[in-house]
Amino acid sequence: MKIHHIGYAVKDIEKAKTIFEKLGFMSESKRGGGYITFDPVRQINICFLHRDGYRIELVSPAPSSAGTDAVSRIIKKIGNSPYHICYEINDFDNTLEELTQSGFTMFLPPMEAPALGDRRVAFCMNPSIGIVEFLEE
Ligand code: NI
Repeated sequence: MKIHHIGYAVKDIEKAKTIFEKLGFMSESKRGGGYITFDPVRQINICFLHRDGYRIELVSPAPSSAGTDAVSRIIKKIGNSPYHICYEINDFDNTLEELTQSGFTMFLPPMEAPALGDRRVAFCMNPSIGIVEFLEE
């Protein structure tokens, strides 16, 4: 299990991207150019940046969601803030099954993530550490 990224909920993805670039992070361009990917299912915008082997994922509510997306609720609760670590796992379905039997409660079942080349991601909640994301290797 490798760490893939740390997810930040941010109100304004362009502003947040600029600040992380000032801190020395490099934006990762997506296939076909550009840096920000719109996820129409989850109604969010996503941008990845990296520095020193660390990858950060900026997640912001898409204007079209009008505050109904999950990230808007997180921002309302805790403001602009990191809110999950994403772990890359192999044997995705079996490992996920094991995890859900050992204290991780899945609240978003596996779905393709357009910002990650359509690899599947699932979100779990753990009572001791909160939100954890798992990504298919
Ligand atoms: Ni993430």
